[in-house]
Order: sequence, then structure tokens, then C-alpha cells
Amino acid sequence: MENKKILFIITGGIAAYKSLETIRELRRDNFNVTCVLTKSGSEFVTPLSIESISGNRVYSELFDLNEEHKMGHIQLSRMSDLILVAPATANIISKIAYGIADDLASTLLMATDKPIIVVPAMNVRMWLNKSTQRNVETLKKDGIEFIGPESGEMACGEYGEGRMTEPGKIVDEIKKYIDKQNFRPLKNQTAIVTAGPTREMIDPVRFISNESSGKQGYAIAEMLQHLGAKTTLISGPTSLGAPKVTKLINVHSADQMLDACEASLPADIAVCAAAVADYKIANKISSKFKKTGNDQKITLQENPDILERLSKRNSLRPKLMIGFAAETENLQDNAIKKLSKKGCDWILGNNVSDNNVFNQETNKIFFVTKQYTEKWGLMSKKEVAQKLCKKITTHLNH
Ligand code: CTP
Repeated sequence: MENKKILFIITGGIAAYKSLETIRELRRDNFNVTCVLTKSGSEFVTPLSIESISGNRVYSELFDLNEEHKMGHIQLSRMSDLILVAPATANIISKIAYGIADDLASTLLMATDKPIIVVPAMNVRMWLNKSTQRNVETLKKDGIEFIGPESGEMACGEYGEGRMTEPGKIVDEIKKYIDKQNFRPLKNQTAIVTAGPTREMIDPVRFISNESSGKQGYAIAEMLQHLGAKTTLISGPTSLGAPKVTKLINVHSADQMLDACEASLPADIAVCAAAVADYKIANKISSKFKKTGNDQKITLQENPDILERLSKRNSLRPKLMIGFAAETENLQDNAIKKLSKKGCDWILGNNVSDNNVFNQETNKIFFVTKQYTEKWGLMSKKEVAQKLCKKITTHLNH
């Protein structure tokens, strides 16, 4: 953990005394610790004791202009590898959940782009309080990690969940977390992922498309990136927020998606998760179509099959080509047929009857390779991404 920098926020709780021991243990493991002490935290521990144990100055006021000049709060929030909040009171947890930035600690937590680990410490009733639990859920959904709280006797004499985790365990958990973050088995690989629907314009304001949300493709792209692959996500129109990938290319039509894929080669891995419209409009018109009082016909022309095109390339074919098979019937047979027809290496078949996949959080996959098939149970789209990426990692590293 040499040179790993931790910004350690100490908020006001009786458990703040454990922070001193935690700082000592972190330093024993060669972490560089800089502390921020909230006003109520300073009721329990003093800046002087923190400074002598951490070996760094303690920050506490947001609007110290002199300090702000030397070390802006944005800079302070980003110079560390992670931010630890210990003890974390119900108050700071709710501030993070609601995005309140009214002192240095809460402002740093809002301004940071670094991982945050929260170590709660509070009375059992406060911990179990519905609003605290709601806020904890919000933080977890936002990707914030928790250590504890533990059960046991509390400073106030009550017994239950809410005790701050012991310093040794906090440091172990931090080390585990960092090891996990440093796990980059795909760091020498590049990946292309397609996601979302495509839109095929009829005229400048009307189009045909489908219900795909893009969630599964985004989850896969982010997981590949997380495991170290340089990932380009080529996305049709979705309402999803910006994903954490090396490059995002937004497209509308299947033709644009194919062009973007080809321009992104070479790649080691390609996952075609997009629900590409099979047809485009052959007789697309360039101005808004006016009502004529008569029935109209649209002629559909088949779109290029991106998965098939990439899989059957003579040059620059990605080493691992993965597609999906959206089926409403005969899932297994059709998924196996699609694998050989399109020339890809793996297919994830899913049943899209009754609209139970598009825009949902879960997926039930029938996994097909040339050698074997597997039935995966009902999983969240993130779990599907994890399981798939584990298979990709094993395949490419052996
Ligand atoms: N796909 C593609 N380009 C297309 C159509 C599909 O890249 N023009 C990809 C999808 O991203 C998916 C796989 O092919 O990975 C299978 O898509 P699916 O919609 O299940 O099948 P289709 O090939 O469209 O065949 P059909 O609709 O007849 O089942």
C-alpha cells in the first residue's frame, strides 16, 4: 500500500477516538493519511492529536481563503486515492445522500471523483431509523462502499447494530478493496460493445425503433472497462447516464453503428448487445411527410448485420466475438442456430416474450458456445455482465 493516499474524514461521534488508532494502523501499512475534521468531530478529538498521529496537517474550515488559495477544496478532494469517512454519523450519511455541501467534509465528498468508503457509527435506533436505512441504500446504489457497522454494546449503554468497526478490520477491508480495484486482468485488451436500440428514420421526425434500454450493453462495457480493457461503447439512443468507458460513440442508425464499429477496430473483444433494427426505410424522405388521405406503404430494406460482419471479417476480426439472441420462442435452438449462422464465438440467448427483458433490471440467459451450453438463472443485468466478463477473462488469459 506504499504511497496510497487516504483522505480521512472524521465526523462527530463518540467513536471518533477509534479514528486515531485507525490512522496509526494505516500509517503502519505505509498509507499516507490526510485528515479532515468536522466541527462536531473536533468535540471528540483534537486537530493536534490527529496531526501528530497522521504526520500531516488537518483541514477543517471550508472558507479559509488563505488555505483555499494554497490547496483548493477540489484539489484536496482529488489528491487522494480514496476517501474514508470514519466515524460516519447519520448526519453525514444523509448529507451525502441528498448532496448537501455545507462544510468542508460534505463539500469534499461532493466534489470528489475518488471512491468513498463509509464507516458508520451511531446509536442502534438511529442506525435502524427508516431514513438512515433509505440513505444508506442510496449511497450503496451510488457505488459508495460500507464497512460495518458492527453489533455490540454502545457507548450510550444500549446494545445492537451501530458500533464502529474496529481499526484493524477497517484497515484490512480497505486493503481488500484496493486489491479488488487493482485487479485488472483485461488490462492489455481492447473491447468494443454495442448497446441500445437503433433508430431508422422514415422522414426527419419519424422513425422505427424498439424498446431496448441499453442497460445490458452499458453494464457489460463498464465491467470490461473496470477489469482493465480499453472499451469503446457504441450506443444507440438511450436515456442512460454517461458510462465509465474509454470512449463513447453515440449513433442513431444501424449503418452508423456498423461504421463506428469498423472505425474502432482493431479490438480483442466485441460484444454486440445492441438491439439493431433489422430493417431500414428504403424510401426514406427528406422532408416531413404530409397526410395525403390515402394509405401509405413503407418499403423496408435489410440492414447490415453488425455481429455477422465483424465475425466474418478476414482481417482485424476481434479474437472473441459475442452476440445476443433475443427470442420469443425456441430459445435454445434459435440461439445455437444464430451462433453458427453469424459466425460468432459465444451467444447469450434471452427470452424477450412478454416484454420481460427490455427496460428491465434482470435477464435470464441461455449461454451458448461452439463447445457447450449453459443455463444461467435469473440475474440482474450487472450480474450477467460480471459472469460474462469472468468468462471472457478466463478465455483470454488461458
Ligand atoms: N445484430 C447486429 N446487427 C443486426 C441485427 C442483429 O449486430 N442488424 C446482433 C445483435 O446485436 C445481437 C445478435 O445480432 O447480438 C442477434 O440479434 P437478434 O435481434 O436476436 O437477431 P437477428 O439477427 O436480428 O435475427 P431475428 O430478428 O431474425 O431473430
